[in-house]
Amino acid sequence: MVKAIAKGLNFVLGKYLQKNKVIVSSSLVYLERDRDIDRNYFDYIRLSSLELVSHEINRRGIKGHVAELGVYKGKFARYINHYFKDRTFYLFDTFAGFDQRDVNLEKDRGLTSGTQDFSDTSVEAVMESMPYPEKCRPVQGFFPDSAKDLQEAFVFVSIDTDLYEPVYNGLRYFYPILVKGGYIFIHDFNNDHYKGARKAVEQFCGEMQINFVPLPDLAGTAIIAK
Ligand SMILES: C[S@@+](CC[C@H](N)C(=O)[O-])C[C@H]1O[C@@H](n2cnc3c(N)ncnc32)[C@H](O)[C@@H]1O
Repeated sequence: MVKAIAKGLNFVLGKYLQKNKVIVSSSLVYLERDRDIDRNYFDYIRLSSLELVSHEINRRGIKGHVAELGVYKGKFARYINHYFKDRTFYLFDTFAGFDQRDVNLEKDRGLTSGTQDFSDTSVEAVMESMPYPEKCRPVQGFFPDSAKDLQEAFVFVSIDTDLYEPVYNGLRYFYPILVKGGYIFIHDFNNDHYKGARKAVEQFCGEMQINFVPLPDLAGTAIIAK
């Protein structure tokens, strides 16, 4: 019945929806386990991919902490905390928006203007929105300087800093300390409004001779698996 509705919707409105970048599609029809996906989150593919990856990591009992570099208000971070509820979760951000040093380099490279304002947040507000705040370790400050005293191993990392410099520095920092079986999600890989993200992934993966998988989510995440 539901499949027939989706088929009908695609038949009648498919062209219009696709033009407006909305896809009506079935997902994981033959998977029998229950999945825990918040349908109020605006990006099904991003969240669904996080759920699948967390399931693999937790099912295989792979050890390691989790992290997000580029947290802003914690909208994606809260799901990382939710799916990895037993793991220490490091949240890296200035919690004051882009750093001018990164923005200047972005402009010099002719990538983006870096004018988006992400300063209307705080550690306190983010912590209040986390389902398991006792597992969260906010690391406030300019990355990578903010990480220099940390000596941890990670199994899942989300990098969502939009600009070339912090994405590239994030990969350089996290990939060597990512455990085998771990994953890095890099947001905005296929986002033409933030061209630095793709450039940083291509540069880093080229240097390391490693590969990535592009996702068709809202901003085009790339996934590196180790
Ligand atoms: C697009 S927002 C993150 C959105 C968030 N991941 C989400 O899904 O809702 C980008 C964030 O990266 C942070 N950021 C960018 N460069 C940074 C740097 N060098 N050090 C620390 N934080 C940085 C900004 O402060 C901003 O909060």
